Amino acid sequence: MPDKAPIRRAAALREQLQHHANLYYTLDAPQIPDAEYDRLFQELQAIEAAHPELQTQDSPTQRVIGAVLDGLAPVRHQVPMLSIHTETDTTPTGAEKFDARVRKALALGVDAPALAYNAELKFDGLAINLRYERGELVQAATRGDGETGEDVTHTVRMISTVPKRLRGAVAVQAAVIEVRGEVFMRRDDFEALNERQRKLIEGGAKGEKTFVNPRNAAAGVVRQLDAGKAAKRPLSFFAYALGEVVGWAVPGTQHGLGAAFRKMGLPVNDDSQVVQGPEGLVRFHEAIAARRDALPFDIDGVVYKLDDRAQQEQLGFKSREPRWAVAHKSPAQEQTTLLQDIDVQVGRTGKLTPVAKLLPVFVGGTTVSNATLHNQDEIDRKDVRINDTVIVRRAGDVIPEIVGTVIEKRPADAQPFDLYKKLGGKCPVCGSEITREEGEVDWRCSGGLFCAAQRKQAILHFAGRRAMDVEGLGDKLVDQLVEAGIVHTLPELYQLGVANLAALERMAEKSAQNLIDGLEKSKQTTLGRFLYALGIRHVGETTAKDLAKHFGQLDRVLIATEPQLLEVNDVGPIVAHSIHTFFAQPHNREIVEQLRACGITWKEDDGTADTSPKPLLGQTFVLTGTFQTLSRDEAKDRIEAAGGKVSGSVSKKTHFVVAGAEAGSKLEKATELGITVLDEAALLAMLPAADPP
Ligand code: IVH
Repeated sequence: MPDKAPIRRAAALREQLQHHANLYYTLDAPQIPDAEYDRLFQELQAIEAAHPELQTQDSPTQRVIGAVLDGLAPVRHQVPMLSIHTETDTTPTGAEKFDARVRKALALGVDAPALAYNAELKFDGLAINLRYERGELVQAATRGDGETGEDVTHTVRMISTVPKRLRGAVAVQAAVIEVRGEVFMRRDDFEALNERQRKLIEGGAKGEKTFVNPRNAAAGVVRQLDAGKAAKRPLSFFAYALGEVVGWAVPGTQHGLGAAFRKMGLPVNDDSQVVQGPEGLVRFHEAIAARRDALPFDIDGVVYKLDDRAQQEQLGFKSREPRWAVAHKSPAQEQTTLLQDIDVQVGRTGKLTPVAKLLPVFVGGTTVSNATLHNQDEIDRKDVRINDTVIVRRAGDVIPEIVGTVIEKRPADAQPFDLYKKLGGKCPVCGSEITREEGEVDWRCSGGLFCAAQRKQAILHFAGRRAMDVEGLGDKLVDQLVEAGIVHTLPELYQLGVANLAALERMAEKSAQNLIDGLEKSKQTTLGRFLYALGIRHVGETTAKDLAKHFGQLDRVLIATEPQLLEVNDVGPIVAHSIHTFFAQPHNREIVEQLRACGITWKEDDGTADTSPKPLLGQTFVLTGTFQTLSRDEAKDRIEAAGGKVSGSVSKKTHFVVAGAEAGSKLEKATELGITVLDEAALLAMLPAADPP
């Protein structure tokens, strides 16, 4: 009787591979990492090799997968878009094996000199064919199944670095030049896009999603039907190969092709290099592996191409893959592993982050045992449970994260996670109440200054120039004071003596005395500064000043109810709630009392007696660049004293942008929105004369 097991397994694998290929290629929404797909693929290959009679024509091992999405027009490639053989052996041997194969195919003896290769990065995006006729971009298409791709001209035209017209006479004279290359998304652009998507989803937007990784995001954007939407999601492009060419004498080497592309105005990655022999390949592979995390985009390995095109032609193709090129993989940036538990970490600002405790897994070149789950909403949306098999992604210097769960592998005892329940409503560091405001995704510790996790940040904020303005208290010193256990609370700052300060490493008596003088000086302040210094969430400088002006006295702020707080200029329900919760915590009240007992004082009717002219009332300013006479802080103070507002970002609500030297993107944005741009002199002219010192 024939063995039924391999038959069944092969059928099951084909079905799974088909399913995941469809999710990946057609829907841009993969559910398993590439490495897992590769494992299934290799298992099927192994079965088919052992039982050739089981091989079917439509097996995923026999064809390039990739279907055409509804709505995008099919494009038949004049020259098929092939793939390259992948060397999965990530050690140097992978490169050596390739060189040996090439030498053998070229019938080179052991004495023949080393071959030259053009070594390139393997960009992790999607392959695109750009068709230029007489130098004009006429069409852009995806690879699809290699024979037929999809017309994505409308979205690819939105990529700013893809030239609409090639430079130079040769390009314009050529009837056809098809340029092939990779469309991808930089990591920073990807993070920013997902951040925006999260905000949209939080805001209740329908039909929006976050993307699993940059490649996936790039594919999603390119295959968008709506070009306008694509334009807002920045993509990048590198050229690396040719398709159909009519009327152009193609350079004789791969590196020469790169140079010709550059001349035509096409973006070509600068990391490509001509190297000699297997040693050169290995050195390139190692050098890139060492730099991988620092690159601004994802790569999944490197590509070696025989540099000489005549030799390339001599070698030709084998089962639809060129014999003259190979992709040498780097360790995968996504892997699956077991989610054993979920811990909660308290960040410097009190934000509570669920952290996955993983069965250690090798991913992106290191062993990972912790990965962020971002927040409860993300856990719910991705339906991640304890004991699930999850997908971990680690790329670049971004902290490892869980991007999804493998539902098929969910065990019966998988446990949903509820952050609030797990913590019993208390901060795991200080035991204060945890809160989550309406419309926010993050739970937070309300402990503020009292919470050890938030202490350093709280002290730095308290001492900041626009808060208590303690001279001589910077980053490093705060670290030392907190780590040495000298300062636990804000009032303890005011109890420091020269003796315990001078005991700190690198602290001279002179700087110790400077700090103590700085602290002494800071005691004379204003109510607005003091309220701002407390670091109450949502209470920025302006709100703090408004509170001071409205209530006049600290004691009245302390006992204010939420409805009373709502009466303050620009204070909405979220801010009112935050202030109220802060002062409702007994330890925060205690800290306030202790600070007062240290001798911090201000004029209680602070602000109310302000009768200076307010010519800028109702006007919003944004400052950018450096000014000649005013510091940024001075400019801000003077605008506010004149009744104006200063905002950090340019929007339609901005009235004026004041631009100094080396003004950046804010100036661009202002021009774009048609907002009046002032120089420093124009600002000074609008301001009332400065108070005499
Ligand atoms: S050359 C015939 N060069 O890898 C050779 N491909 O499996 C054509 N890729 O679909 C490809 N970086 O999306 C080439 N520097 C590079 C590449 C590269 C990434 C991708 C491309 C292609 C796949 C090959």
